[in-house]
Amino acid sequence: MRVSGPSDSCGRRYAEQMTSQADERKQMTAELFDTVAVAYDAVDVEFFGPIAAGLVDELDIQPGERVLDVGCGTGQVLARAVARSGTESRSAGIDLSAGMIDRARRTMEQAGFGDATLQVMDGQAPGLEASSFDVVTASLVLFFMPDPLAALRAWNRILVPGGRVGVTTFAPQDPKWREVDAVFDDYIPQEMRDARTSGARGPFGSDESLAALFRDAEFDHIQSRNLELDIVFRDPAHWREWTMSHGQRMMWQAVPEASHAELFAAAEDRLADCVAPDGLIHLTQNIRVTAARKYQ
Ligand SMILES: C[S@@+](CC[C@H](N)C(=O)[O-])C[C@H]1O[C@@H](n2cnc3c(N)ncnc32)[C@H](O)[C@@H]1O
Repeated sequence: MRVSGPSDSCGRRYAEQMTSQADERKQMTAELFDTVAVAYDAVDVEFFGPIAAGLVDELDIQPGERVLDVGCGTGQVLARAVARSGTESRSAGIDLSAGMIDRARRTMEQAGFGDATLQVMDGQAPGLEASSFDVVTASLVLFFMPDPLAALRAWNRILVPGGRVGVTTFAPQDPKWREVDAVFDDYIPQEMRDARTSGARGPFGSDESLAALFRDAEFDHIQSRNLELDIVFRDPAHWREWTMSHGQRMMWQAVPEASHAELFAAAEDRLADCVAPDGLIHLTQNIRVTAARKYQ
């Protein structure tokens, strides 16, 4: 018989604390995306669409393949994937945010794929049948999850043997764009400063560290490539509108309202250096597109 001692209860308390922190983080993520759902990808900036297209191209989705899109947002990836697979009624999108699921439903209906399943569900631990999908996608989602390795392991279980997973994450930031985002640095906690990569040493810091995460989750044939995007804003006000319309809104939320004008003025100064001869602001976004295969 095993006798539990003080270290067991310490361990249990620690585990409970970690679970509640993770739940809190997921709750905050759901609230953030519910808040931005209406404006998300609707402020005239070509950003999420080209990234979704890059991911779907990389996976080379074939007719008949069933696709699960985790953190489907407005459905940009799912609509493109189903257009290739023709498996609308056997494909699904899940997201923590009910607001995003509503947007995805509209996207899918408008694309003529109203039979796709869309559900509010935690993509880190989806309650879906084992071996029920051929492809799992997650565009700009994995780094929001408290435990990305647990998520990859769960997706592995859902995939058929030889099934494919594809994710997009942020590659190292263009120095000019970093300088613009640095206007938030005095206000936000260290971990939010580089939230998209979890810092240079985190799993999202390099192709190699991300590949190691996939290997730990029992994937092979792991390949990453860089997708370089030219992101265009009409003027600084357009940049601000865009930053408020997606995950970056949490940076604005960390700044006291009274300091917003001062922060915007500092950003305006830095954005002036990014105006191209066409009179528009051009910033470069590097996206890492990673694809891998579940062991046969
Ligand atoms: C940056 S958006 C990307 C949305 C979409 N994939 C796209 O490319 O436009 C991140 C999305 O992931 C969702 N998300 C974050 N954590 C999640 C989780 N644990 N389970 C399901 N969805 C999650 C958010 O609600 C949000 O819709």
